[in-house]
Amino acid sequence: MFPPPVPPKAELPRRPLSLPALIATARQDSTAIFPAALLRQSHLAGRSLWPWLALANPVDARAVLLDRARHYPPAKPVERMVRPLLGESFFLKRGEEGAWLRRRILPHFSTRASIGHGPHLRRLAAATPLPRTPFDAMGPLRTLTLRAILDICCGPDHGVDVPRFARAFDGYLSRIARLGPLDMVNLPPRLTETLGRRPGPLPDLRGQIDSVVHRRMKDGPRDDVLGTLIAARHPRNGRALGPEEVRDNILLMILAGHETSASTLGWAHWLLATHPEIQDRVRAEVAAAPSGPADVLSATPLLGAVIDETLRLYPPLSMLVRRPSGRDTLAGCPVGRHSFVLVSLYAMHRSECYWQDPDAFRPERFTPGVGAGNPAFLPFSIGPRSCPGATLAHYEARVILSAILSRVRLSPAGPPPVTGGALTLQPTGGVWLTATPLSQTA
Ligand code: HEM
Repeated sequence: MFPPPVPPKAELPRRPLSLPALIATARQDSTAIFPAALLRQSHLAGRSLWPWLALANPVDARAVLLDRARHYPPAKPVERMVRPLLGESFFLKRGEEGAWLRRRILPHFSTRASIGHGPHLRRLAAATPLPRTPFDAMGPLRTLTLRAILDICCGPDHGVDVPRFARAFDGYLSRIARLGPLDMVNLPPRLTETLGRRPGPLPDLRGQIDSVVHRRMKDGPRDDVLGTLIAARHPRNGRALGPEEVRDNILLMILAGHETSASTLGWAHWLLATHPEIQDRVRAEVAAAPSGPADVLSATPLLGAVIDETLRLYPPLSMLVRRPSGRDTLAGCPVGRHSFVLVSLYAMHRSECYWQDPDAFRPERFTPGVGAGNPAFLPFSIGPRSCPGATLAHYEARVILSAILSRVRLSPAGPPPVTGGALTLQPTGGVWLTATPLSQTA
């Protein structure tokens, strides 16, 4: 018996990067900007143009994200990267307005609402092509998660040309949503965009969602995310959202819920393909579970643990970047208005301080009653800006993985993927697999 392969990990630099190297690295693999020492320490401080403090411990992470969240808004470079797409969304318009909208849409991502989407998600997964010859699983998984979030937010009759939207979205991610030198300086937003970013596929992305919004405004009310955004009236002044605000909030859901879910599923496919014994155990668990849409939550603990372990090894948002609004002390270090505070979820999730054999794929860490509850596990963040789609994302991953494992056996068919991605931690280079129908494996 060979030991299972060590899952791919980010190539972290030995020393802190200079500013040009940091920007170049962040454009290719934003996970790899931290020195490797952060995997063995609670924090690291340095300076590249501005002072920075990188945190990899749950106590200070909670202080920044939860207890003192009001004093740690997202840093401007991150906002500048997403402003062209999400300018009118609640991600950027905070304060009372942002909190109110966030509360309005939350019920659409509850456990009950997620389970309601179960049969549709299962149908989408069943219709996903899984060739017998070697294929890059990221292609079908990206299309699947894009369809899922569009259908959930706008209803399955949204009319969006999904392949065209996917191409435009890929163009946005590869050409526009990458850190540039201008993002690091304080220029007025319009000037940064004029100097640094061409609109590229943005008009097409906006135009496609504009059509969905306008059609729905004529068609009348419906109980989905789009319907809720259109019907929402501010509790204090009765103001309705304008069509552009509705559109940008839908684009926020797509940006936040599509690549993150595709990344998780892609890595999970690779991990299961390279750990066939665990894959067999999950398949047996799924086969033994009742087939109702809620059962995938209650009757498949190992599947849930596989997803958590995937999110530990590959948190799709591998770091959260904040800028203090005033002086403070974190991890014994002074920080101020000019500092960057970076919570590295990747380093915390793989830290020798909090996990045994941190680079190994061991789902049993998360088996209920055995290893769950480690405070150094925060893939969906925590606090007022934490992921509102966390429950849906977990449920969606469970439904899709269980549907796929019930159809085929996954085996590796190429070199391991490498970590990459500017906004989210993606398996780059492809997740090369073969998918053998179960009828042919007995
Ligand atoms: C595995 C999948 C996912 C992961 C790991 C994930 C993770 C996260 C994290 C860490 C944040 C916090 C960002 C920050 O603090 O700067 C976040 C925010 C957000 N997520 Fe997710 N997410 C996932 C899927 C989804 C889905 C399916 C949706 C569906 C709509 C969604 C919607 C959002 C939104 C709207 C925000 C912004 C919240 C705010 O600013 O108040 N996410 N997500």
